Amino acid sequence: RIVPVILSGGSGTRLWPLSTVERPKQFLALTDPVQSMFQLTLARCADPNLFAAPIIVANARHGVIIGEQLDACAIAPRAIILEPAPRNTAPAIALAAFEAGDDALLLVMPSDHRIADTAAFVAAVTSAAPAARQGALVTFGIEPTHAETGYGYIARGDAVADHPGVFAVDRFVEKPDADRAQAMLDSGDYLWNAGIFLFSARRYLDALAHHEPDIERCARSAVDRAERTGAIVTPDATTFETSPSQSIDYGVMERSDNVVTVPLSCGWSDVGSWDAIADLAGVDSAGNYVHAEGLRVSLAGVSDMIVVATGDEVMIVPRGQSQLVRGLAEASREKT
Ligand code: GDD
Ligand code: MG
Repeated sequence: RIVPVILSGGSGTRLWPLSTVERPKQFLALTDPVQSMFQLTLARCADPNLFAAPIIVANARHGVIIGEQLDACAIAPRAIILEPAPRNTAPAIALAAFEAGDDALLLVMPSDHRIADTAAFVAAVTSAAPAARQGALVTFGIEPTHAETGYGYIARGDAVADHPGVFAVDRFVEKPDADRAQAMLDSGDYLWNAGIFLFSARRYLDALAHHEPDIERCARSAVDRAERTGAIVTPDATTFETSPSQSIDYGVMERSDNVVTVPLSCGWSDVGSWDAIADLAGVDSAGNYVHAEGLRVSLAGVSDMIVVATGDEVMIVPRGQSQLVRGLAEASREKT
């Protein structure tokens, strides 16, 4: 069975003021009336015929909220690995790989995406599994719709023999500049990297030892010296904090051979900005999107605005420019 690995370390500044450092977006019910994106991610890989108990890798400050949200959906994880400090995704996945053991097949998932069609998602994972068992690093590819610079791009190559639905990856380009993103979109040869990966723990750790040996070494010894209480695993802080900070995309995927992709058509959306939420939720006839908690917001004579009100914060930004919110979030944190 496949071991789900749920990454939940994002700082959540792009969906401020709703998402905060203490309660980042994956723990909010943004895409569903009841369940958070973290809970929906767990629910997606809960079929016991296909999936083993999940491993969660998160920041230590979110241990309590993770416990509450797991209880609420009655999921017993194999491990909750609480990082003493964020070191990005390459080290986080390494912790999970050491914890799971060499032979485990890991399905690595962000906890802050929306996937509308779970059956299509599970079918893609199932068709990717044989290639992953044979040592491929599998990425899941999304048909791109615009020249997004915040994503990774994968050049889809030839079909892989004996593995239906699996294609070679000729190139992996993480977060291109705008010109390069436009050129890749126009070429029609590229898919977006969904940020979801399937590989054996051994294959990932081998690739990491090759391309980022310091990360592999720090994660190994942090898990060797971890403290354990029930399912909670606390890696040794002194060792883990010496790890370089690096993403799997730059650290491993851009540099590795034997990367393959399975195209995924499942209503995927990276709920990464207020613009993305406005697109998902829909806007009024003037193109305005309003999310207000506990107070009424009235708009007249303005169009294409995003307005978010919660607690004692009100945030207004023009649609199409919600990347500016990150700066506001940082400024607000400095004030308080
Ligand atoms: N445990 C842990 N520790 N999780 C982390 C850490 C960390 O230090 N840093 C990030 N994460 C989690 C985030 O919470 C998120 O769920 C996931 O790992 C991916 O990190 P992001 O920071 O959101 O990456 P990104 O959105 O910039 O880029 C990735 O996703 C894109 C698709 O959404 C890349 O994989 C891109 O190539 C991809 O297109
Ligand atoms: Mg992201």
